[in-house]
Amino acid sequence: MWNTVALCSLGKRPPGAASPLLPRLQTLNRVFERKYQDLCHGKEPARSLQNQGLKRTRDMLPCRLVSNKAKYKRYAKTYPVLDGRILSVYRHVFEENLRNSEAVIKRYSELLETASKGGGENAILRHTQRNKKLFVRERLKLLLDDESFLELSPLAGLDLPYGDVPAAGCLTGIGKICGVWCVFMANDATVKGGTIYPIGVKKQLRAQEIALQNRLCSVYLVDSGGAFLPLQSELFPDKLHGGRVFYNEAIMSAMRIPQVAVVCGSCVAGGAYVPTMAEEAVIIDKIGTLFLAGPPLVKAATGEDVSPEDLGGAKLHSQVSGCSDHFASSEEEAYECIRNVISTLNYHPLPEEAVEHDSPLYSPDELLGLAPRDYRCTLPVKLILSRLMDGSRFQEFKANYGTTLVTGFGHVEGCLVGVVASNGELSHDAALKGSHFVQLCGQRGVPILFLQNTAPQAPQPTSLSQAEAHSNRLKAQASMMAAVACAPVPKITIVIGGCYGTESYVMCGRSFSPNFLFLWPNARVALVDSRHFSVVPRAEDSDSAGDESELKQLKEKLEEESSAFYSSARLWDDGVILPQNTRKVIAQCLEITAQQKSQVVSPCPHPVIRM
Ligand code: COA
Repeated sequence: MWNTVALCSLGKRPPGAASPLLPRLQTLNRVFERKYQDLCHGKEPARSLQNQGLKRTRDMLPCRLVSNKAKYKRYAKTYPVLDGRILSVYRHVFEENLRNSEAVIKRYSELLETASKGGGENAILRHTQRNKKLFVRERLKLLLDDESFLELSPLAGLDLPYGDVPAAGCLTGIGKICGVWCVFMANDATVKGGTIYPIGVKKQLRAQEIALQNRLCSVYLVDSGGAFLPLQSELFPDKLHGGRVFYNEAIMSAMRIPQVAVVCGSCVAGGAYVPTMAEEAVIIDKIGTLFLAGPPLVKAATGEDVSPEDLGGAKLHSQVSGCSDHFASSEEEAYECIRNVISTLNYHPLPEEAVEHDSPLYSPDELLGLAPRDYRCTLPVKLILSRLMDGSRFQEFKANYGTTLVTGFGHVEGCLVGVVASNGELSHDAALKGSHFVQLCGQRGVPILFLQNTAPQAPQPTSLSQAEAHSNRLKAQASMMAAVACAPVPKITIVIGGCYGTESYVMCGRSFSPNFLFLWPNARVALVDSRHFSVVPRAEDSDSAGDESELKQLKEKLEEESSAFYSSARLWDDGVILPQNTRKVIAQCLEITAQQKSQVVSPCPHPVIRM
């Protein structure tokens, strides 16, 4: 992964001499990669049966898409190559960033490990041995084509005011089934019986939003005790609470976005509607049960003892009620059945062969030293671009105008993308350039990649002319906001440093609905930077000045609330990703967003209604 060009660019060493940073970077990367694979995807290779199933299904499906290989060859290799050498003058900043990256990545690995264990070892044992069910990650391995799925927000739910809810009690992400990218939502019953917490509702709604925006089939693996009752007021009554999940199922079905479900555990109360509203549902014998009120409630109401199986088991729902469409005698059979269901969607999958592309000329490992510890440690963003773009090639737009924003075109794993990257404060000229470029991308149908590192605070004007400059900048930023909001192309935002204040909206922050938004672990998300904060804000007519301890308290609170992990726990993003994995994540997102181009959608005014 490491290349000599990058090595030699670190300071003035002669070519071939090893960098003192090399062992640290390589070890960190190796350790993390191993852990990540183990934690998220398990160690076993994909099953051969599944691969056979995949091959069979793909053989059956027509593939009308033309490879864009030729197009790529013709254009991409003529874009100018970026100079990504890190000058020795930047070395101390690079090292400071690297130290910070090591610390935050260590924390990230710890949190990821906690999340990956769900409700903990005892709960997993009870789930697998007593309840004879597969752990949710094992289920996904059986369902998905391979292990390269994009998991969304694995750190959601950690350290919330109501405690830790690992992975928010439900895994969500995007993976391929029979060559088709699908969104999955899978309850983890080892976390409080799979009950839905407020953060779990938010996570499911976000996954559905992604399905809607990118027209991806939704697959629900339901194994849930329904609402987490002690927090019912925070997840039942409001518009964006539990019921919205069912509403979305109907709306998506009417939009020809397929909804399929597996009942692979308990489906109680509200949870029972998820498979029942799905277009096709599978239920697993002696594992799946589905009812509005469970046996204890029946006993309380009628005095009758009834088993879960008799009340709402697989046979009952497949033979009598019709709440399920397929009966599966084992978990394996159920996931195979869902794979077959996906193969009937009549989708035209993307071409399988990889588009020929060059790797960047500089090592992605060096992104750890370019990920700014704070705004003052920001290095020129083209150093980052030279480690993300294919062949480090970049066709820059308006290179000499509004230089605090870098705009231009490049390729990521062969996909053309328009880049809008922060390179300082978003000045008037930079915002005008941004508006122009975003419109170009919209006109040409090119997806936009925002690399966000916004300034913590705009300086206060000290003169009339400065105040006028501020107003002009405000107007230019407002124009760019409008251009970003209305650009009719997929948008992917990566917060590589600061996500501060209103500039973060202009750079396609969460409220501007990018298709995906990820953070680097060093990212800071806040209205203002606690480190730049020196007075407690007061009303102008107030005569009490904030004291030192009040300021200290406020700064500590801001500091804690600004971390990438705090943000990700609350689902203000789609997850924290490692800088060195950024290219892969961007490439996946581009492929996912492109899938809808191959769908033929004819109008369908109503959802599929279960009869
Ligand atoms: N609200 C809050 N906590 C719940 C819950 C709910 N709806 N359902 C289960 N839990 C908790 C249990 O109290 C238990 O907590 P503990 O680990 O601290 O003891 C934990 O979740 C696991 O439940 P348990 O019953 O031990 O696990 P299980 O695998 O044997 O059964 C269920 C899981 C979901 C089938 C079972 O707990 C159940 O039927 N729950 C009631 C479901 C219900 O009536 N929901 C209505 C919601 S509107």
